Order: sequence, then C-alpha cells, then structure tokens
Amino acid sequence: VTFLPSEEGSGKGAALISAVIDKYLYSMRFSDETLLDIMQQFRRELAKGLGRDTNPTAALKMLPTFVRSIPDGSEKGDFIALDLGGSNFRILRVKVSHEKKQTVQMESQIYDTPEDIIHGSGTRLFDHVAECLGDFMEKQNIKDKKLPVGFTFSFPCQQTKLDEGFLITWTKRFKAGGVEGMDVVKLLNKAIKKRGDYDADIMAVVNDTVGTMMTCGFDDQRCEVGIIIGTGTNACYMEELRNIDLVEGDEGRMCVNTEWGAFGDDGRLEDIRTEFDREIDRGSINPGKQLFEKMVSGMYMGELVRLILVKMAREGLVFEGRITPELLTKGKFETKHISAIEKSKEGLSKAREILTRLGVEPSTDDFSLVSQVCTVVSFRSANLIAAALAGILMRLKENKGVARLRTTVGIDGSLYKMHPQYARRLHKAVRRLVPDTDVRFLLSESGSGKGAAMVTAVAYRLAEHSRQ
Ligand code: GLC
Repeated sequence: VTFLPSEEGSGKGAALISAVIDKYLYSMRFSDETLLDIMQQFRRELAKGLGRDTNPTAALKMLPTFVRSIPDGSEKGDFIALDLGGSNFRILRVKVSHEKKQTVQMESQIYDTPEDIIHGSGTRLFDHVAECLGDFMEKQNIKDKKLPVGFTFSFPCQQTKLDEGFLITWTKRFKAGGVEGMDVVKLLNKAIKKRGDYDADIMAVVNDTVGTMMTCGFDDQRCEVGIIIGTGTNACYMEELRNIDLVEGDEGRMCVNTEWGAFGDDGRLEDIRTEFDREIDRGSINPGKQLFEKMVSGMYMGELVRLILVKMAREGLVFEGRITPELLTKGKFETKHISAIEKSKEGLSKAREILTRLGVEPSTDDFSLVSQVCTVVSFRSANLIAAALAGILMRLKENKGVARLRTTVGIDGSLYKMHPQYARRLHKAVRRLVPDTDVRFLLSESGSGKGAAMVTAVAYRLAEHSRQ
C-alpha cells in the first residue's frame, strides 16, 4: 500500500482507504466472469420455474399474468387505477381518448398507508383502500359512476384469469393478516360492497412490473420486458405460450411475472451472499425469502451500508472507532442517502449532513470511505440486476431464434430513478453481458398505475368486442 496524502492533507489518504475497502468488500465486487455465471444460473432458474414438474420446487415462481398483448392503440375510455405495494399508495384516473392520435390524460393522488394498517388485519387494509377510493371518486365527482378499475398489486399472485389474484406471500414491508392465500379482488370488492356508497368494476389485477411494461408498450411496441428497481425488485417479460406449462395453449405469447426477488431462496446465491446480507435477512420480517431482493433493492441497500459502517467502526477503521446509538439504529441510514452521497456535486456536503445526523463527527477520510462503501453497495446492485436481466434477454433471443435481438425494456422504481449513476451502470453492464443485442431502456413515469389502466383498457375493449 502506498500512502498518498489526502486532498485536505491530514488524512490517511485515498490509497489506504481503497485498500481498506478492497479488503473489506472484495466479495461485493464481481468480475464479468462471475456475472456471466450468475446470468447462466438465472437462465436455468427461469426454465425451472416454467416447467410443470419443476415449478413447485423452483425459486422463481414464473407466474402467468393472463396479459397477452400490449395495447394496440385502439383502446379508449375512462378508467381508475389503484397502485398498492410500491413506495406510495396511489389512485389514478386515466382517460384514454382518440382524436387522430391516442392520448392519455391522468390525474392522481397519493394516500398514506400507515404502518399499523399494513401490519394489521387484512380487513382493515382493504377497508382503508376502499375508503381512499371513495374519497378519490368523491373528489373526482364520479361517485355515481361505475368505472372500470385496474388494480396494480405489487406482490406475487397466483392467477387463472385477469380479474383474480391469490396472494402467495407478502413481501417488502407488508404483512397484513389473513390475506395470504386469498383473492385480493374479492377482498377489495367485499370492502367496497360493505361501504355501499359507490360501485366499482375491478377488471384486472396486475403486478407493477406488468404495469410498467404495458405503459412503455404504449409508446414503444417493441417493449417486452418490465422491470422495477425500487423498494423491491422484480421483472416480467413476454414468454412463448408453448413454454408456459402451467397454461393451456401453444399459440402466441403471455406475460410472465418472474418474481426474481426470490432468486437464491433455494440456496443458489450462497457463494456470493456476505455476512451483511445474512444479517439483513435475519432481521427482516420474512427470513429466508426474497434473498436476491434483499441484496439489491431500495428497502435494504441503506441498511447494508449501515451494517458495513458499524463493523468498520467497531474495528476502528472509521469515525475513530466511535459508535453512536443512531448508527446502531436499524433504518437510520436509508437508500436515498446513498443516492445523495453519490451525487458528485453536492455529495460531500450531503454526506456531512447525513453523518452528522448519525451523531458521528466524520473526518475527510471518513467521508471518502463512506462514499466508497455506498458505491460498492449500489454498484453491486446494478451488476446483479444486469446479470438477471441479461438472462431474460438471452432467453428472448433464443425464443425468437435471431442472431441479434432488438428489444425495449420498460423500467420504473425509486432506486433506478433517483440514484445518480445507477441507470448508466446498469445499462453498461447489460450491454457488456449480452453483446448481440440492441436494447433500449425506457423509463416509465408512474408507469405501474397507468399500466394497470392500460391493461384494463385492453380487457374492456375485448369485453366490449365480445358483447357486440
Ligand atoms: C416485490 C414483490 C413483487 C414486486 C416487486 C417490486 O419483489 O414481490 O411482486 O413486483 O417487489 O415492487
């Protein structure tokens, strides 16, 4: 190790800090060879989840969504979309009209979902959703109408048709009692009926990844993958029906919700999980589940950084070995803090503010170390997601039997949108891992809710069609 003077002169210097990071976090940095290996593993898991006999024991649930096509441009109408399970609970009114060109007009409102409601009883949760929907319709002056509703419900659901979704298991922060194993459309309908002050026609329940793909599909017909990188992470893509053993029929394609957050739940990722990942998992509300999600998504990344800093402080490598009660408090360091610190311009002053709130008195070297820890953790996330996405792209390429794949990936999620370098790192890694592809990444603003309205619009068009 060479000792270089740090920028402000007094510290241990950049080289020493890098050496500390190398020693501590080497297992969080991956070579392309490792990433390609993870990509291959992921591809095998995709196939396992699709097979009738292998599905029950597969980590990836590969859930059929009964969404068969992206919007064709002829949809129209007035729709409501509910978006529950992301960082916000949002209700939207989406008007799709035709005057020369299809246009979409949206109004939306965000509602609170307090901790006691998402951890309380399922009845209370759905009563709350129904109450917010009532409030929204009141404000929109449509309480006397029975508008078609699309329900974005961002959790794994078993479906046999579009307007039904049995919750398999809660993920992320949610844990309302008595909902697992139940049809969430039924639960919501029941809550609305009980009120009796308005009517609604829930036509579709869609995962947020599907909503995102549909929204992007509206602008780009080539879109056949949807990804969320936010509180949680997940992806869906258009699979050939002949490969989906769990659904009858061989013609055409259907969107499959991979639930890739569960990648590794069968032990597949043990080689790359670190002591910090294990600690996060142990302290979570669903130990042993969503292991990939816990390594990469917004709900956990800040906490990963905090755990690393605590360990480093204990060994006297940062903050002069001082550990404050705040630093020891779960959730005190959030993923949005990583984003702030990694912003090159305001990074340093932000870091000062954030670390001061943790009660530590950081030196110049401490700033540099904290920011490098943030970079290692967020870079690992982008790399792992790139490997999984590369697996999906390889599969699409194989399904189509083309030498070069041209495709569009719709993406949404707070981490992807807010982190200053995340998107660029992800795109770069994907392009490196699957060289024979022209992939376009399309950001979908408030896509998951709008997408649910689009799915509903398509369903509505088809239903109208069959009534005529
Ligand atoms: C979690 C949910 C999944 C959702 C993702 C992103 O992984 O299980 O359904 O798509 O979070 O919100």
